[in-house]
Amino acid sequence: MSKNPPRRPVHPGGLLRRARQRMGEDLSAAMREDPAATSKVLVALMYPGVHAIWAYRVAHAMWVRGPAWHPWARLLSQIARFLTGIEIHPGATIGRRFFIDHGMGVVIGETAEVGDDVLMYHQVTLGGRSRGRFKRHPTVGNRVLLGAGAKLIGPITVGDDAKIGANALVVDDVAPGETVVGIPGKRHIGDVIA
Ligand SMILES: CC(C)(COP(=O)(O)OP(=O)(O)OC[C@H]1O[C@@H](n2cnc3c(N)ncnc32)[C@H](O)[C@@H]1OP(=O)(O)O)[C@@H](O)C(=O)NCCC(=O)NCCS
Repeated sequence: MSKNPPRRPVHPGGLLRRARQRMGEDLSAAMREDPAATSKVLVALMYPGVHAIWAYRVAHAMWVRGPAWHPWARLLSQIARFLTGIEIHPGATIGRRFFIDHGMGVVIGETAEVGDDVLMYHQVTLGGRSRGRFKRHPTVGNRVLLGAGAKLIGPITVGDDAKIGANALVVDDVAPGETVVGIPGKRHIGDVIA
């Protein structure tokens, strides 16, 4: 028996309609979250965070088609990174109406998961703490705010409606609705953390 169920054929008209709807809601998210945004046309033309998420959605669709598509998905995400300064691994799982404001310096790792209606500012990292090929990046819930420069590392979970302050370093789970600020720097004796 085949491991993967056969793919349902996708009608091109339906695909285009869905893509247009998703792009529309990405633009609405930018208008809602950025008080400086004055028109959807300007957002569509000039917001690198929006361009990066659109490129990611195409790259992710390639990625999930299977390993033969992975080099092409990586190529597209590298082109998007070159143009926007935002690096999103095509294997990451990102929900709807995700908005990255400013964007430059964002890194989202391969096994990261991001919910719906998440707002992220520039220089946020959703990174790993180990180099194994397993779930090693954060899982971020719905409606989470990720402040500029926040670093979330390891397979931690950030609950719905949480807020992560600018420049926070988060290495432990965050409860739903919780606000976390600051850097938990402490002396680490023993093996160097990868
Ligand atoms: C963490 C954050 C969400 C908290 O917002 P809030 O709930 O409205 O909290 P407040 O602003 O009332 O601050 C509460 C306390 O946390 C402190 N605080 C706020 N943000 C902080 C941060 N990033 N790091 C350290 N302390 C912070 C405040 O000084 C205040 O301290 P006090 O109680 O001793 O006076 C918000 O401050 C933040 O960092 N947002 C990200 C904004 C951002 O990245 N903007 C980039 C735009 S380009």
